[in-house]
Amino acid sequence: MVKSNQRDLTEVLSSGQKKYFPSKKVLKNAVVKDYEGTLKKAKSNPEKFWEEAAEDLHWFKKWDKVLDKRKKPFYKWFTKAKCNLAYNALDRHIQNGNKNKLAIIWEDETGRKKKYTYYQLYEEVNKMANALRGLGIKKGDRVAIYMPNIPEIAITMLACLKIGAMHSVVYAGFSAGALRDRIKDARAKILVTADGSFRRGKVIDLKSIADEAVKQCKTIKKVIVAKNNGAKIKFNKRRDIWFNDFIKNQSAEAKTQEMDAEDPAFVLYTSGTTSKPKGVIHVHGGYAVGVLRTIKWVFDLKGDEIFWCTADPGWITGHSYIIYGPLMAGITTVMYEGVPDVPTPDRIWKIVEKYKVNVLYTAPTLIRAMMRYGFEWPQKHKMASLRILGSVGEPINPEAWKWFYKYVGKNHCPIMDTWWQTETGMNMITPLPVAPLKAGSACKPFPGIIADIVGKEGKKVPAGKGGYLVIKNQWPSMIRTIFNNPKRYLKTYWEQVKGVYFTGDVAYRDKEGYFWIQGRTDDVLKIAGHRIGTAEVESAFVSHKDAVEAGVIGVPDEIRGEVIKAFIILKKGVKGTDTLKIKLKKQVRKTLGPVAVIKDIEFVEKLPKTRSGKIMRRVLKAKELNLPLGDTSSLI
Ligand code: WTA
Repeated sequence: MVKSNQRDLTEVLSSGQKKYFPSKKVLKNAVVKDYEGTLKKAKSNPEKFWEEAAEDLHWFKKWDKVLDKRKKPFYKWFTKAKCNLAYNALDRHIQNGNKNKLAIIWEDETGRKKKYTYYQLYEEVNKMANALRGLGIKKGDRVAIYMPNIPEIAITMLACLKIGAMHSVVYAGFSAGALRDRIKDARAKILVTADGSFRRGKVIDLKSIADEAVKQCKTIKKVIVAKNNGAKIKFNKRRDIWFNDFIKNQSAEAKTQEMDAEDPAFVLYTSGTTSKPKGVIHVHGGYAVGVLRTIKWVFDLKGDEIFWCTADPGWITGHSYIIYGPLMAGITTVMYEGVPDVPTPDRIWKIVEKYKVNVLYTAPTLIRAMMRYGFEWPQKHKMASLRILGSVGEPINPEAWKWFYKYVGKNHCPIMDTWWQTETGMNMITPLPVAPLKAGSACKPFPGIIADIVGKEGKKVPAGKGGYLVIKNQWPSMIRTIFNNPKRYLKTYWEQVKGVYFTGDVAYRDKEGYFWIQGRTDDVLKIAGHRIGTAEVESAFVSHKDAVEAGVIGVPDEIRGEVIKAFIILKKGVKGTDTLKIKLKKQVRKTLGPVAVIKDIEFVEKLPKTRSGKIMRRVLKAKELNLPLGDTSSLI
């Protein structure tokens, strides 16, 4: 049986002690050869480390100071410097003589393909930038993006940044309600979407979801629609414009808006402990530095790689490691729109083989799903091009790690289990290819990062004991604030444990300093690696007329890691039938989208609550999973 990520310490310590050492080839190719030495050096002066990393980028004007701590925790990096994230991802390569290199290889489930060189991408981005300017979009404005994994999403994101506008990408698996809330919070002026996308052969009608969301968003003036799957859609002539028409007559050259290093580049909404998602803000300067340094070092990039991150651009992993990271590094990024097992369960391995992918960065949920089909599928493919593998999104259970290592990496590709968050912008706890690996551990903090495991009072806990994972210093790609809500920024990240960044995760550290991430301490679920708040799901349930109150918890699932179990109090007199269960599930799907996978609904008379009336989800969870109630404070 494939085990879920809910592991206990005994299992972790007993199963994880075998070490996997890098092959001679990996050692020879490595960008960083001396692992411990590099860690030590960076730790002695992290600011110097990041200053050196910043030299890899183009700056219109250099900084006065690397890190300004005066208004902590509103830290500033590379103060007074001028730069632009999109310029670093594109223009720089055009001038470097790399313009004919492949930037994007795109393929979809049905087999359609497209390729863009850096120069072709540059021209498309410029046209889009000019078109956006033509609509009056300017520095600081927000553009909402609700698109599948197609090249137009990258073009739109880059075009926004080029003119200094902020993008707010909403994952295309979210439904109208979730999209509406995010557009409203960001007060976006336009929405860029697509007619639809294919998923497992089914047509997903994105445009009608977008239409429904926009109905309630007064700020949206125009909707730009990329033609993707040719689905029949309703077209509002006064408001909607086809993407191709929008950019058709625009010049292929556009002026880059010089941005302050601390100017916001984008907002990305993520779930927290309340039903209102948080708009995480990342900036032009520091974000670029953190993402470029991590992608180069974690995945050993020399500059001619084919890099495939299987995430979606709608999540931070897609922002940092499908789009900005690979493009800043000047390599080729693979975009695949579709599911990994269509038409056969080796689709993913076929893509690796066909495009000679060198780095495959994926998620434990996908690996577990592939394990279920059997090792015969990856075994059919040589995948000789693969050098490095990566995992992200949730703890990878040792069984999945070993399977990935053996059948995909053919026992010679190191697996980079990268722990990080929307808020951190970049990989934070991760091995480098030369590090000895342990199956299921994210290894150690990236150079320049000081992480620790502490108790409630902030005191370090000894090796082998669980505690809160915190970051003790600052890093350039850190969240700057929550959009329009600095108080929430302070409360969520800086006031939980004094003086350090609170990650919301619990972890152990073994005697050799390896980190073992256990999962969230708060009410955030990780369903197939997607981050969903319990409060958001509960509020979706109670938006149904028959539900009075809801308490939801995550329960282990073999493939998805976690899925939802809901406890619902119904209105007096309403019968808890199976039909009602179906209706409630539909309601959640309508409000939040298919990301919120519900396994089970139980109708109850009451819910366990604290004196102040907060639902004690931990009690529900302990009962459901037959854990001792005394153990409900999780692992602390
Ligand atoms: C979890 C995704 C264990 C963790 C980049 C974190 C992980 C949350 C790992 C952030 C990993 C991510 N091992 N857990 N390698 N990577 N997580 O914001 O709980 O979608 O706090 O960012 O995912 O999720 P987010």
